[in-house]
Parts: sequence; C-alpha cells; structure tokens
Amino acid sequence: MTLIAGKPASFWIDSTAKLTFSPFVNNTVVDVAIVGAGIAGLTAAMLLKRAGKTVAVIESRQVSTGVSGHTTAKITSLHQLIYANLIKEFGAEKARLYGESNQAAIEQVAKLVEEEQIDCEFSRQSAYTFSDSPEHLDKIEAEVEAAVKLGLPASFVKDTSLPFPITGAVQFENQAQFHPRKYLLHLAQTLPGNGSYLFEETRVEGVEEGSPCQITTNRGVVKAADVIVATNLPILDQGLFFAKTYPKRSYIVAAQIETSKAPEGMYIGVGENYRSIRTTPYEGGTLLLVGGEGHKTGTVDDTEQRYLRLEDYARDRFGVDTFEYRWSTQDMVSFDKLPYIGKLTPLNNHIYVATGFTLWGMSKGTLSGMLLSDLILGRENPWAELYDATRATPFVSETSLKENSNVAKHWVGDRLKGLDNSSFSEVARDEGKLVTINGNKVAAYRDEQGTVHAVSAVCPHLACIVDWNSAEKSWDCPCHGSRFTYDGELIQGPAVKDLES
Ligand SMILES: Cc1cc2nc3c(=O)[nH]c(=O)nc-3n(C[C@H](O)[C@H](O)[C@H](O)COP(=O)(O)OP(=O)(O)OC[C@H]3O[C@@H](n4cnc5c(N)ncnc54)[C@H](O)[C@@H]3O)c2cc1C
Ligand code: FES
Repeated sequence: MTLIAGKPASFWIDSTAKLTFSPFVNNTVVDVAIVGAGIAGLTAAMLLKRAGKTVAVIESRQVSTGVSGHTTAKITSLHQLIYANLIKEFGAEKARLYGESNQAAIEQVAKLVEEEQIDCEFSRQSAYTFSDSPEHLDKIEAEVEAAVKLGLPASFVKDTSLPFPITGAVQFENQAQFHPRKYLLHLAQTLPGNGSYLFEETRVEGVEEGSPCQITTNRGVVKAADVIVATNLPILDQGLFFAKTYPKRSYIVAAQIETSKAPEGMYIGVGENYRSIRTTPYEGGTLLLVGGEGHKTGTVDDTEQRYLRLEDYARDRFGVDTFEYRWSTQDMVSFDKLPYIGKLTPLNNHIYVATGFTLWGMSKGTLSGMLLSDLILGRENPWAELYDATRATPFVSETSLKENSNVAKHWVGDRLKGLDNSSFSEVARDEGKLVTINGNKVAAYRDEQGTVHAVSAVCPHLACIVDWNSAEKSWDCPCHGSRFTYDGELIQGPAVKDLES
C-alpha cells in the first residue's frame, strides 16, 4: 500500500468550525432562492440581501465544503496564460471585459473584507505565471504583451522569491489571497434573519420555473420569485452545461516551511506538469501549498501517485520535510474558456446558473455573484453578454471533441468494465473494484476490516459507470464528475441521488 503523507483533509475546512444554522422550514417563501453555498452562491446571496431582497441559501452539505472549501484561494485576474488567447479568439474588447470583470471581483472581495471587517487573512500579493525552462518563454512574453495592451497591471520579470531559477514570468501586481472558508463562513453568517435563511444538509432535487418558482428538496419545498443554481455544475440538465464543460480534478499538498524561506506571492507554472504555489499563515508560522497533477475526473485509478509527485516536487524545490495536509478537488472547465453566467436557457426568465470557472472561481465565482445579483435587480451589467449562459458555444473545438468523445466512450465502453470480476472474493482489503453480480454492474469496496460495501455502479445522473478513486476512497463518474463515498452517498453533483444500494 502506498503511504501518502499528511492528513487527508482540506486545511481550510480543518482549521474552521462547523456552524449551526436554523433547521429547514417547509414552504419557505423568499424573493430569491440560491442553491449551493460556495463562493458563487454566497456572494450572490450577500449582495442580494444587501440590496433589500429576502434570500434562502439551500446547501446539501455544509457551507463552503464543496470546491470553495478545497481551493488554493488565489484571487487574481492572472489565469495562467489566457489573455493572448482571448484576444486571438474573441478580440481585444471581449478580452478587456474579461480582465476588467476579474479585476473588479478582486476589489469586490477586498471591499467586503474591509466593510465587514472579515478576519480571513486577506492579503495583497503579486500573482506570477512562471516558466522554468526556455521552452515556454515566448508564451510568457506574449501574455505580458497582451495583458499590458488590455490595461492590466502586468510586467515581465526574471527575479522572484522562488528558491529556484526561472526563465521568466508574467507578474500581476496588487492581486490577493485569503483563507476562503473564513471569508465564506462570515458571508454565510450575515444571511439569516429578516425573512432570509440558510439551510444546510438540505439537498435540492428539482427546480420548476413559475410564479413563484418551486424548489423541491429532500426536506420539503421552498418558493421564490427567482432561483440561482450555484452548484458548481448545475444540477438541472436543461442548459446542457454538462456537455459544454468537463470536470478537472487537481491535487494539493501542504507542508510547514520556515517563514524566512517561504516565497512571497502566488505562483503557477506553465506546460503539462505545471505546479501552483502559495503560502498561508499556520500556527504562528507558514504553510506552503503546492498543487497540480490535474486530470479529467474519473479517468485515473492510481490517484495516490499524484500526491507522491507533488510531495517530491515540494521536497526537491523547497526543502520541506513533513506534510501537514493533502487534499484534492475538481472544477468545471469551460470549452470556450469563458464561464457561463446568466439564464439557464433562453426560455427561462427566473432560473439562473453560474458554472465553468475553469479552476479560477475565486474571482469568477465572485463576479458571478455580482452579475447575477445585477440581473435579478434589473440593473445593467457590462459583462452580461460576454458570459451569457445561453450563448451559442463552439462545441466543435479540439478539446470539446476530445472530452465529449471521452464521455461517449465511457457511456458505451464502461458497460463492459468489470466483466472479468464476477465475485466479491476478487476484491482485496482496502480496494474498490467493479464486479458483475447476476448481470448487474456493482461498485464494491472491501474495507480494512474485510466488510464489503456494495452499491450500484450506475451513476444516477445519466447512467455512466463510476470509477474507483483510490486516494480519496470514492466512486467518481468519468462523464460529468459526480462523486460518491465508498458506500454510495452523493458527495458532488450534477447527480442529486446516491448510488442505489
Ligand atoms: C485544486 C483546485 C485549486 C483551485 N485554486 C483556485 C485558486 O487558487 N484561485 C481561484 O480563483 N480558483 C481556484 N480554483 C477554482 C475555485 O475553487 C472554484 O472555481 C470555486 O470554488 C467554485 O465555486 P462554486 O461556488 O461554483 O462551487 P462550490 O464551492 O462547490 O459550491 C457549490 C455548492 O453547491 C452544493 N450543492 C451541490 N449540489 C447541491 C444540491 N443538489 N442541493 C443543494 N446544494 C448543492 C455543494 O455542496 C457546494 O457546497 C481551484 C480549483 C481546484 C480544483
Ligand atoms: S455525472 Fe453525468 S452520468 Fe455521471
């Protein structure tokens, strides 16, 4: 068995308390219901409540324990390499709006932290996209040129405080980082009262548009004039967002580092094996976070290797020795590189979505809250057209064809998976395997005590066959990223049901 170092938990969640909110009230009526208490949902709820609306946030688990509780939490408009490409594909004006909206999101977070006096280790930092080989230098230079042209705070640098040489980097000044869960728990706490609610442990199973809209949960019904579905990937299939995006899973290891040796700023590399680097205050000292090793969810069995490679990198480049934490999470990657923020479909006037943040949702989740609250309040918003969730999407791109054909391959090919295993005796201790029992596809995990946990392997979303994730001990769906515990409980949608027992 591989030994991965560090507690298998997100530092952000482990270092914050579990809050208790008032229990669910059946037939709650509000102006706006918001499904999902991550950064997109909570920012929208906060801004709408401030504007005088009553809101109900409905969260299936606990506040900020989804992607927003597992992120690296850099708040920046420097999204690795994006601007040269955006100018090429969409033109300078749209690229400018992209930069402007993400910069505005940083300032929105800063404003809320200041006004609400949020104790969340918010600090201004420079963000860097660096290359440590000559290979990608031309891309770095092109990115600086594009970003400067768009009026962004960009420059080319060769010197950083990284403890290893680089060939060059894009630097964006005056960006920010924070402790995401401290920030989001604060937003959550401001919501209940004066006709507004926050419900945890309440899973939304369906939303019907109407006057009012009806939100069906596993505990009863909420009614609202408008609904925002902020579940990372919308749980509603009508807008086909599961086909316009794909889930990318990525890994983080966290090690204590001497503060004098810790790099200043937030970093991301380029190329296939890029690493993401930042530090955060930790028990009077400093914690170094190193991320990377991303892949499409449900396509890699031996996920332990991903952590081991990040550990090696952190030891080699930063001289750290012991690891405090390790965790992973996934985000939806948009095929046309822009998030989808707006109405669910052209036929919906009261159901809104926000998805496709492409691993940069601290700024894009914040700007979705700003944009969606403007739409619901009937205010003009300069970014609405760029991010319009109902825009025609170029389905036929190299990436979308590859990822969508992957889904088709899984839907058909996975039906044959596990045919060789037809008995639970073939499942070793602490192993998850697909087996075929009486013609049924079964996802079986044998725990360390020898007990077998067997559930249906058919994903309740659109019936793909789940795959075993050994490091997280979960069943992950390779089609659109739903995830389940080893005994079938839903961890992450778009599915809204557990795996059948
Ligand atoms: C490894 C990694 C590192 C990242 N680092 C960065 C970074 O440094 N900077 C950055 O900008 N972005 C980063 N991102 C991306 C960013 O973290 C995400 O884009 C963002 O957190 C997504 O927020 P969200 O509100 O859409 O989703 P979430 O935070 O997942 O919120 C959705 C919520 O909806 C709830 N939910 C789901 N289904 C239901 C249902 N049926 N009923 C009720 N509730 C439901 C979930 O439980 C969840 O709490 C990173 C992503 C990854 C994968
Ligand atoms: S997530 Fe869509 S089929 Fe599993």
